[in-house]
Amino acid sequence: MRDVQSRMENTLEHFLPPVSHAPARLHEAMRYAVLDGGKRVRPLLAYAAGELVGADEACLARAAAAVEMIHAYSLVHDDMPAMDNDVLRRGKPTVHVQFDEATALLAGDALQAHAFDVLAHASFARAEDQVAALAVLARASGSLGMCGGQGIDLYSVGQTLMLPELELMHILKTGALIRASVVLGTYCGQPLAHEDRQRLDHFAKCMGLAFQVVDDVLDEEADTATLGKTAGKDAANHKPTYVSLLGLNGAKDKAAELLAQAHAALEPFGERAARLHALADFIVDRRS
Ligand code: IPE
Ligand code: IPE
Ligand code: MG
Ligand code: MG
Ligand code: MG
Repeated sequence: MRDVQSRMENTLEHFLPPVSHAPARLHEAMRYAVLDGGKRVRPLLAYAAGELVGADEACLARAAAAVEMIHAYSLVHDDMPAMDNDVLRRGKPTVHVQFDEATALLAGDALQAHAFDVLAHASFARAEDQVAALAVLARASGSLGMCGGQGIDLYSVGQTLMLPELELMHILKTGALIRASVVLGTYCGQPLAHEDRQRLDHFAKCMGLAFQVVDDVLDEEADTATLGKTAGKDAANHKPTYVSLLGLNGAKDKAAELLAQAHAALEPFGERAARLHALADFIVDRRS
């Protein structure tokens, strides 16, 4: 994991526009949002899925960087006063606090566009896989993916959602990009049989939902120093979460159930999926 994380840091640093490019302040904010922090779970998933299909390293680096840039942009906007209004992210002041609101808005916008730039310039073995990868990332980012989930999240403040609505919100706001990370990794290698693609997609869907269920648990259970973001924000902001609906133990049971399903989906791959198995455990057992 540390190896991929450190390679990813170099890759992101390389692909982000330099501060020497005008406007320096915007590029500084983009780099601040992306570099030096974060678990890099989405790149890790892309790499692990890529490994399964003998993916080309250079292609994988761009795919992983692209999804991490979209993720970083989603965090910048998620933290802004009009959304969750958070001051701490990855152990540092949030972008709108460190810079200003307008810069945070632009940095998020620019990171989103830049992610597609990075992916569009990757060398895929087959052009149709590149188009498919771009389409997957676009769908996962927009109103039918992450932005849609964020919309449901905002419009649900103060309400009690039913479990299926809450599940949809989580599958979209966090699950979509996690799922896309795995799919993007596979497009960088040899084509997969239809059933294998479906198995991996089921794995990724379970992990995407589990990821946010655990995020809800950590928000309730962990402390701000460990999280690197303000603990207890969901209750303070009256957000419906797995914890508010099912309680801490109910949420943990749900995460364990999803983890078991995820492992089961990988079974036919045997040893080839070792890294994905390990990442699944990491996602559910993580402390931040
Ligand atoms: C936090 O994501 C926001 C969610 C989608 C739950 P991560 O927990 O992956 O945040 P970083 O990238 O490690 O900071
Ligand atoms: C955010 O969910 C999901 C995103 C798309 C960024 P949260 O609002 O729970 O994420 P944190 O807890 O602020 O990282
Ligand atoms: Mg939020
Ligand atoms: Mg938030
Ligand atoms: Mg959260």
